[in-house]
Amino acid sequence: MRGFLRFLFPVLLCAATVASAAPAAFQDSMAQRTLACTSCHGKEGRAGPDGYYPRIAGKPAGYLYAQLLHFRDGRRHYGLMAGLLETLSDDYLFHIAQHFASLDLPYAAPKAATAAPEVLQRGRILALQGDPERRVPACASCHGKALTGVVPHIPGLLGLPRDYLNAQLGAWRTGQRRALAPDCMAEIARRLAPDDLSAVTAWLASEPLPKNPKPVSAEPPAASKRKGRKAPPPPAPEPPPMRCGSAQAPLPGGAR
Ligand code: HEC
Ligand code: HEC
Repeated sequence: MRGFLRFLFPVLLCAATVASAAPAAFQDSMAQRTLACTSCHGKEGRAGPDGYYPRIAGKPAGYLYAQLLHFRDGRRHYGLMAGLLETLSDDYLFHIAQHFASLDLPYAAPKAATAAPEVLQRGRILALQGDPERRVPACASCHGKALTGVVPHIPGLLGLPRDYLNAQLGAWRTGQRRALAPDCMAEIARRLAPDDLSAVTAWLASEPLPKNPKPVSAEPPAASKRKGRKAPPPPAPEPPPMRCGSAQAPLPGGAR
């Protein structure tokens, strides 16, 4: 019962404040107001104990915001959580996203991999190089070279439990999880053969985070990097990069 009240009270508080729209007070109490969230997502949003409730602390604000909209608007499904979001405005959801994004908290060490070395090696290749034959781009080409994510829209792929990764990619394959169109992740999840999907999540879940686990800024376009240097060799022909609707979504107030 106590757990339930702890869960409900901040929700009511949160809804009440939104209704009375008193912006002055809410900055100091965002941790307090999001106690309903952290009752599932772990202390300060570091993840629940069993791999079911994902970490939200330190993920890019645009990504977290997009997920809150996905749950509220029915592109992702988890009733107990969506119910909390129903009455909240876009702006308020963005404030919640910014609050969790700003938390800089340590990650737990990854679980030791149980998959065979060949499987892990295959997973590593898919993550860092992709598979041109199956038209699977390297995960690192969007999720950042170190796979720690790219602000503001792309989440990191390290520090997540394997069960969670499998569930998300599985949900994209079946249409249970959707992002904004064009939904690049749905396409990628469907292009991955089942063994490859399992290999890439086995490797990702066993890989420790680098020293700097934070999401990086997007790389400047190649042209500006080359400025002032000798003419580079002509680039190899490549398929056009995949587009992702969620990676281009505007943020409230023109935030970046
Ligand atoms: C009753 C438990 C519960 C509560 C309360 C809850 N969540 Fe969640 N949340 C979940 C679960 C479970 C998932 C993963 C669902 C899935 O597998 O897609 C999730 C997913 C998320 C995600 C997506 C994470 C990612 O990496 O894609 C975000 C962001 C999130 N929650 C934020 C919040 C916020 C903010 C609140 C408070 C307003 C909240 N949650 C309240 C259970 C909860
Ligand atoms: C073309 C760019 C692109 C590539 C390549 C890509 N991703 Fe993604 N990925 C995204 C975007 C954008 C999102 C956020 C989508 C959303 O809003 O839900 C995402 C989200 C995810 C998530 C959800 C994370 C979470 O916390 O719930 C997982 C898991 C994921 N990607 C795995 C992969 C894997 C594995 C690969 C390589 C096989 C890969 N991605 C390649 C763009 C990409």
